[in-house]
Amino acid sequence: MTVPDSETLQFMQDMQAALSQSPKSISPKYFYDQAGSALFDRICELPEYYPTRTELSILQTHAADMAKHMGEHADIIEFGAGSLQKIRLLLNAATKPARFVPMDISGPHLQAASVSLQKEFPALQIQPMVGDYTSDWQLPAALPQAGKRVAFFPGSTIGNFSPAQALSFFRNCAQHLAGGALLLGVDLIKSPNVLHAAYNDAQGVTAAFNLNLLVRANRELGCDFDLSQFAHSAFYNAPLQRIEMHLLSLKAQTVHLNGQAYAFHEGETLHTEYSHKFTIAGVQQAAQSAGLQAGPVWTDPQHLFGLLWLDIPHTQETSS
Ligand code: AVJ
Repeated sequence: MTVPDSETLQFMQDMQAALSQSPKSISPKYFYDQAGSALFDRICELPEYYPTRTELSILQTHAADMAKHMGEHADIIEFGAGSLQKIRLLLNAATKPARFVPMDISGPHLQAASVSLQKEFPALQIQPMVGDYTSDWQLPAALPQAGKRVAFFPGSTIGNFSPAQALSFFRNCAQHLAGGALLLGVDLIKSPNVLHAAYNDAQGVTAAFNLNLLVRANRELGCDFDLSQFAHSAFYNAPLQRIEMHLLSLKAQTVHLNGQAYAFHEGETLHTEYSHKFTIAGVQQAAQSAGLQAGPVWTDPQHLFGLLWLDIPHTQETSS
């Protein structure tokens, strides 16, 4: 048997914990193996999934204004090395950016993204950082000649975090980006029907994306999830302002991992993702409580999606 790499070992431990707890729950970061990343790219193109194209249109319309706020020689960080499409718009608008630091948990993904971006921006210093921005992260040392440190966190990926995790993410930004800024993309609260459709597309791509987590567990961890006996379930939890995705057991069944049996009763779910929806004021309040200062906001005419500028003061007062 081949020795599992550290990412697979972590997946194994997390899946073991996920199946042992009640309610069962696992981090959405495990969606993104090769197949999952390809499915996510397809989600972004779906007619029902408005966030990606809306955020892109906001960036297209306002990149020059955003670049003004970044200033010259900005040291630009991106959390998640996902869509080069988005950062490309900012890099094109920026005045002589000093460096680009994409941060991602997946080394190979990061490498590939950096190589293809370097071809397009031959003069740009690109310094990929393998890191988990969902926990406590570090940045490379500041460049001596650089301007502001500006972190870009697009896609409403912050919606995956619990409110407490989002707050600790803001606190990390306050600590590591002092004197700089955070440009944050958030999906806004809207009609539950629109939200529901975005996570229950007619072609079933989101269902395949969700179920792929079980495919991955079967392949990488040797699990025996019966794919015909789990269903995609996604719904808007209005009081908690979030889409919840689950994998729903269609019958009482047992799944194995490492020789250990885990029981699902009929209707029990493995929770796979939260996708929180926000108000502009709500995000600004949470950011402010971590010491960030609300700046300009860019949105689309229908207010489906928002990009918020959050300034990070030089001297962080000790917050409780
Ligand atoms: C990448 C976390 C922003 O929450 O909308 C898309 C992931 N899940 N369809 C989102 C996702 C189901 C997406 N984020």
